[in-house]
Amino acid sequence: MRKISVIGSGTMGIGIAQTFLMNNFKVNLIDISKKSLEQSFKRMELSLEKMLVKKNITKKIYDNSLRNISLSTDLESSLNGIELVVEAIPENFNLKCKLFKEIDSICDSDVIFASNTSSISITKLAAFTSRPDKFIGMHFMNPVPLMKLVEIIKGFHTSKKVVDFIFSLSKGIHKFPVLVNDYPGFISNRILLPMINEAIYALYEKVAGVEEIDKVMILGMSHPMGPLHLADFIGLDTCLSILEVLYQGFNNQKYAPCPLLVNMVNAGNLGVKTGEGFYLYGKNYNDKFVSNQFK
Ligand code: CAA
Repeated sequence: MRKISVIGSGTMGIGIAQTFLMNNFKVNLIDISKKSLEQSFKRMELSLEKMLVKKNITKKIYDNSLRNISLSTDLESSLNGIELVVEAIPENFNLKCKLFKEIDSICDSDVIFASNTSSISITKLAAFTSRPDKFIGMHFMNPVPLMKLVEIIKGFHTSKKVVDFIFSLSKGIHKFPVLVNDYPGFISNRILLPMINEAIYALYEKVAGVEEIDKVMILGMSHPMGPLHLADFIGLDTCLSILEVLYQGFNNQKYAPCPLLVNMVNAGNLGVKTGEGFYLYGKNYNDKFVSNQFK
């Protein structure tokens, strides 16, 4: 059975792990926090149960997925005998560099490194390893088990062999890979984040309220979620860090983060994960009502 490691057990890490598990891979899920690993495992169990009840997966896939995951806080022992590492730790350049340097010294030279970064340069991260030809971006979308896209980012030195390998691997886990070059925000976030930022500006300038802005995009453009709800779902801190990468990377005012977004991140209102962003949340992202800040 093929074996990979996923580093980082946040929403993206556990979603990526679940996707590989449902497609008959063994996954070592690694995090510095034992508590986060345990919480993520419970979330994965719930997601698998939902999929089983809806007959999206068989009982065999459900059982195998729960059996083939191992949770660990120890990097060294969890990187043994794997073909691929998918990094999904927080969107922080220094943290990612430190991690890649460390795993580069542990992993065999043929192991491929994939980063799930949503905007940091793959070429820049690869430069901290001895294997820039085997370094690639695999940008999954949240919720990973449901969303079809994997944005594959080719770094400056990524070899064609590795691109081809990751392409066929992505198809093997029932995703649709799309290849893009390594420029700020790639394609997905270069287009998505300016839209979200503009929605926040419209709120900031009191053009309309939270629900009105979201309704326009849901009912008028058939988006599954309005941009403010989606920003809460992604995490306002993540939205801000992606906009900062775009702003610095293109040196263009059009990507400047809205001051309201900056304020909300400073205030710790990060969206679904903290229970409050543009909306206040109940048990899940669907139980929501407009935050008192915007009434
Ligand atoms: N696991 C399993 N099933 C799940 C699930 C999960 N994690 N989350 C939702 N579902 C299932 C629900 O059970 C439900 O199933 P049925 O339709 O069979 O009842 C179905 O998915 C739909 O869910 P909901 O009814 O709860 O809500 P919904 O209809 O609004 O769909 C959604 C939820 C799929 C998230 C949809 O709202 C959507 O597509 N939203 C946009 C998501 C998006 O844009 N993601 C990309 C964000 S950007 C990113 O991730 C990258 C980045 O770098 C920022």
